[in-house]
Amino acid sequence: MNIAEIIARKRDGGALSSAQIDWVVTEFARGQVSDAQMSALAMAIFFQDMSIDETLHLTAAMLHSGRPLQWPATSDRPKLDKHSTGGIGDKISLPLAPLWAAVGIDVPMISGRGLGPTGGTLDKLESIPGLQVQLDRETMMRIVDEIGCVIVSASAEFAPADKKLYALRDVTGTVASIPLITASILSKKLSESLDALVMDIKWGSGAFMKQRAQALRLADRLVAVAKQLGTPTRAILTDMNQPLGRMIGNGCEVAESLDVLEGSGPADTRELTLVLATHGLLSVGLESHWATAWKRVESALDSGAAREKFAAMVHAQGGRLEDFAREFSRQPYVASQAGWVHSFDCEKFGYAIIEMGGGRKQATDRLDYRCGLERLVEIGDPIEAGQPLLNFLDCPRPTPPVLELLRQAIQISAEPPVVSSGKATWMLVEHETP
Ligand code: URA
Repeated sequence: MNIAEIIARKRDGGALSSAQIDWVVTEFARGQVSDAQMSALAMAIFFQDMSIDETLHLTAAMLHSGRPLQWPATSDRPKLDKHSTGGIGDKISLPLAPLWAAVGIDVPMISGRGLGPTGGTLDKLESIPGLQVQLDRETMMRIVDEIGCVIVSASAEFAPADKKLYALRDVTGTVASIPLITASILSKKLSESLDALVMDIKWGSGAFMKQRAQALRLADRLVAVAKQLGTPTRAILTDMNQPLGRMIGNGCEVAESLDVLEGSGPADTRELTLVLATHGLLSVGLESHWATAWKRVESALDSGAAREKFAAMVHAQGGRLEDFAREFSRQPYVASQAGWVHSFDCEKFGYAIIEMGGGRKQATDRLDYRCGLERLVEIGDPIEAGQPLLNFLDCPRPTPPVLELLRQAIQISAEPPVVSSGKATWMLVEHETP
């Protein structure tokens, strides 16, 4: 095969065959297709898109560039995971994985670090002293067997072609392509050899996809490809025009997740955890009706069973939950004018956290796990001048760039807004494959 011909075919809008896609991915992973050639192909895909079939072949080729997990025949609990495309304040993996474990589902969760302004589950978990997220596959599988859940980073054995391609996309402006995102996400998640997958596709100012229509297209493609590759998958679309929960940061999001696991915590965070948990039970067939599935996960949350699983998982991963401080110092950020909370530019909260030291500007940056923001108001709330809108957590001296980002993040209007979005709402996307 000839790489220049394959690139030219895609550039001119032609479809690539399964053999061509397989060959390119294999040779790229072996270093025989150069970074320049793969970048050119990524750009051609970015502009010309791919059909569902091409996306499926790309995903399968990337998945098989690595070594998917092989569960022993004795491991009879269903294997399930959730993937979120990320949003400001999204900490749902932390209560969800142990909640599923508490109802008898195994969750071998491969997670990521912060990406742009959105935080990453691994960074949040690492705010617990001693906790390790880089585990070899034997340890990962042993913890799943013993506890029922584990949250780790992708090792080199999981879809290495994605790791190489993602690094190129990041520096060539080709991240935001539906077939490339689909293949990237699914090649890693399907390496877990799951019985089912639940996807939380975010849209809005606090998400990677700003428009709902874009998120819907991505959800549809992800569900179609994952199903055709043999993994029953359902996706929900969530509105991230308002941060999820009250806490934004690393340690403070772990503290808020513990609140949810202890039966309190913000209503939106608890509800989304239960919605995703219920979809999970239905998709692995542990329940067949929404109401009974909901009741089952709700009682596992309220009985403390999920909290126990979380503590056991943290302990198995080397973490010392007893040394994790749940209290944070607070200092208010106040409104400069009276009016109504009109909207949030949620990404700005994420950039403020990065500026405070809680996220990375360079891949090698060390994080301040303690700093964070606590949101005190919702879209549509009336406010007085001087009223606290947020609290800085463990951040005694916010810098002028942080203050400027927060000024941009919260839009105050003279008239009450029409509140049609801004609440974390969700809908189910089910791709009907022919
Ligand atoms: N997350 C991924 O893992 N891959 C993408 O391409 C985008 C988000």
